[in-house]
Amino acid sequence: MKNIAVLASGVGSNLEAILEAVERGEVAGRVVLAISDQVEAAALEKARGHRIKALFLSPKNYNSREEYDQALFDQLKKTQVDLVVLAGFMRLLSTYFIRSFPLQIMNIHPSLLPAFPGLDGVEQALNYGVKVTGCTVHFVDEGLDSGPIILQEAVPVIQNETIMTLQQRIHAAEHRLYPIAIDLFCRGKLQVEGRRCFIFD
Ligand code: GAR
Repeated sequence: MKNIAVLASGVGSNLEAILEAVERGEVAGRVVLAISDQVEAAALEKARGHRIKALFLSPKNYNSREEYDQALFDQLKKTQVDLVVLAGFMRLLSTYFIRSFPLQIMNIHPSLLPAFPGLDGVEQALNYGVKVTGCTVHFVDEGLDSGPIILQEAVPVIQNETIMTLQQRIHAAEHRLYPIAIDLFCRGKLQVEGRRCFIFD
C-alpha cells in the first residue's frame, strides 16, 4: 500500500475527490498527510474531516524557499511518503526538492498542457478563444508545468462561457482524472521513457 501526501493551498476540492475515491476503494494507496502553506486553506479542514493528519507549514517561518522545502521534505520523509500529490499547491518547489522525489511528484493543471501553463490556466484558455481545453495530470520536473503527461481530459468551451462555468466543468474532469492517475501510480502501472509516460494495465 503506497503512502500518499497531498499538498494544497486552497479550497481542496481535488483533495476531497481523492479522499473519497480512496474511501470507495478505488485507489491502491492511502493518504497519510495533507500539508498547506495557507493557514486558511479549506483543504486542511477537509483533510481533518476525513481524519487525515493535516499540517500548516507557514512560509513566514523560513528564510528561503530551500529552507521551506527542507521542512516539507522532512515531514514527507518522516511519514514515509511514496507519492507527493500537488492539488492546487500554489508554491514553486525548489530544484532540490523535485530531485529528491524523481517521478514521485504529480500535479494537476487546468488546461491541456503544453497549452496555457502557469497561473490562471482556465482564464488563459478562455481569453485565447480555444474551443477545447481541459485538464492534465503530469509528473513534476524542474520546469513550469512541463513534466511527462500521465492523463488528460478534454472539456469543450461552449458559447457564452464564463471563467466560472468553464472552471466548474474542468473541476469535475479533474475530480475524475486525478484519482485514476494516482491509482495507476500506486499499482505500478506507469513507466516513463523520456517525455512519454506509458500506462500498462
Ligand atoms: C485546480 O483546478 C488545479 O488544476 C489548479 O488549482 C485548482 C485547485 O482547486 N492548479 C493550478 O492552477 C496549478 N497551476 P482545488 O483546491 O479545489 O483542488
